[in-house]
Amino acid sequence: MNIRLETNDDYSQVEELTREAFWNLYYPGCDEHYLCHILRKHKDFISELDYVVELDGKIVASIMYTYSYLINNEEKVQTLSFGPLCVHPNYQRKGIGSALLEKTKALAVNMGIPAIIIYGDPHNYCKHGFKNGIDYQVSNMDGEYPLGLLVLELQEGFFGTKKWKIKQSDVFNFDQEKANEFDKKFIEKEKKHQYSQELFKMNIRAYLKPNG
Ligand SMILES: CC(C)(COP(=O)(O)OP(=O)(O)OC[C@H]1O[C@@H](n2cnc3c(N)ncnc32)[C@H](O)[C@@H]1OP(=O)(O)O)[C@@H](O)C(=O)NCCC(=O)NCCS
Repeated sequence: MNIRLETNDDYSQVEELTREAFWNLYYPGCDEHYLCHILRKHKDFISELDYVVELDGKIVASIMYTYSYLINNEEKVQTLSFGPLCVHPNYQRKGIGSALLEKTKALAVNMGIPAIIIYGDPHNYCKHGFKNGIDYQVSNMDGEYPLGLLVLELQEGFFGTKKWKIKQSDVFNFDQEKANEFDKKFIEKEKKHQYSQELFKMNIRAYLKPNG
């Protein structure tokens, strides 16, 4: 398994892999391959953390990071967010996703970044040290604590007793029509319902209560 930086030659393979990994997972079809496509050109994209995993001569996993910001009344602190992160369905549950996360986490520590903050399924990330935002008083911009708002503290004690809001990159507010158009470039796949979509619908409507 070779964990290395993505190159221009990998772009289409990474987009196809991302489409395979996310297809029908959260809703019928997916947009994450379009996100890869627009992320690389965006000002918040971090090319030095754009990693892939190569195995048997193929790209089987990818992770992409963007800058995000923690904000309070006095301060604005640069943090990192990742996503999409994916492993090809044929290669999942073999430790590849974990290896990719651990590799890039170590690089983030060396960059002097205090935290990685993402929206994701807690099941995938608590084992890597992530906690819910509420445990560090990190909310979304509306002051809420979504179940999927997850924080990995890279500098111990950074959060202290202050309250923070997390501002993600604007790249995630993409035009759905453009994403639909982009998907037409790929081999047609059936959009259908899967039970994972019900789980996702529950996750994105779940919030933790302060003092709960
Ligand atoms: C989520 C994802 C990135 C994880 O990558 P992965 O390579 O499958 O993850 P790992 O193999 O490191 O860990 C997954 C599980 O396999 C287990 N595992 C790891 N190596 C294993 C092995 N050799 N044999 C059996 N199980 C193993 C891990 O303990 C873990 O168990 P858990 O589900 O009980 O926590 C991947 O499954 C994926 O791409 N999913 C679809 C897209 C997605 O959901 N992306 C994340 C968005 S939030």
